[in-house]
Amino acid sequence: MNIDGQAWRTIGLETGGRSVWVIDQTLLPHRFTTRTLASCAQAAEAIHTMVVRGAPLIGVTGAYGLMLALQADPSDASLAAAFEQLNATRPTAVNLRWALERVRDVVAPLPPEQRAEAAQAEAAAIADEDVAMCEAIGEHGLRIFQELAAARPAERQGQPFNVLTHCNAGWLATVDWGTALAPIYKAHRAGLNLHVWVDETRPRNQGASLTAYELGREGVPHTVIVDNAGGHLMQHGQVDAVIVGTDRTTRRGDVCNKIGTYLKALAAHDNNVPFYVALPASTIDWTLDDGVAEIPIEARSASEVTAIQGRVLEAAAGEGSPAPGALATVQLTPDGSTGFNPAFDVTPARLVTALITERGVAPATEAGLRGLYGRV
Ligand code: MRU
Repeated sequence: MNIDGQAWRTIGLETGGRSVWVIDQTLLPHRFTTRTLASCAQAAEAIHTMVVRGAPLIGVTGAYGLMLALQADPSDASLAAAFEQLNATRPTAVNLRWALERVRDVVAPLPPEQRAEAAQAEAAAIADEDVAMCEAIGEHGLRIFQELAAARPAERQGQPFNVLTHCNAGWLATVDWGTALAPIYKAHRAGLNLHVWVDETRPRNQGASLTAYELGREGVPHTVIVDNAGGHLMQHGQVDAVIVGTDRTTRRGDVCNKIGTYLKALAAHDNNVPFYVALPASTIDWTLDDGVAEIPIEARSASEVTAIQGRVLEAAAGEGSPAPGALATVQLTPDGSTGFNPAFDVTPARLVTALITERGVAPATEAGLRGLYGRV
């Protein structure tokens, strides 16, 4: 994707192949910097602290983390320990386990001296496949947007096609293109007059910080709204479609995504607004059926609720205050108030209009998914 005229992916191998660079997403949108990951421990820390985040990118970073571990020590014990360390970093996104298992299954039968190189090749393949899957999702989603836009009443034809999205399921959450944002980029490039409502996505503000950043760089018209505004906009006909990503999709089509997604699905259902979920195959957990009962929900630090990070606009009075332009974390809540921070929720399949995958569009049902992926 495009950052100031330059094409970027979110992750890559550094020269020499013994370290990996990533974009530090904790500093966006105010600072664009890359960070080097030179060990499995650094890869694990980057995933846990959300330097990298988004289900597909977590998976690719985990795959490269295994490569880094095997470069340092290619033994069976090292492989097992690195797998556990990386897999424990974030529990909800199934792409992480999927990518780790894929690398492990390739390298485990090999003699130790061949493992690091094989892990590198597999991690690179996972990254390249992710790009291809996301671009294909974009093509399938583009057709849906074009059809929905064309089906609007004559008096609305000249107006922008309004899409609402939650969290960041864009290229920053993947290797390139994104899942939910890929159809938006494709539609924008295809000339569809489109506007995006961007949920800020408390507590970490992936919408306000990351989705708005991406859309701005690509020149896509967008407006950031507070998380609670979506239902109101839908009631007043200002949302033509909702599209989100997912961190784990069960075989019957329940989708687990950033906290607050479920409420948007309920509001969409109540207002007859189509609610689409975009996902690559790596996000499907075929072992699970009932998402609400079975998907592990990550609980993150309460400090993400009680405090917020941003760029200082005005210096507060007093010596030692951060200067305008500095990044700062400020407390929102009274001393002594506690917070609770479940990071994801589950939207039942019945609220999902359709799943948009790299293989095409399917109803959010077991038959729909099996029809696409040929599983019995
Ligand atoms: O906690 P995050 O920022 O990793 O959560 C990301 C999301 O919820 C995305 O919507 C999801 O990973 C799908 S991304 C293509």
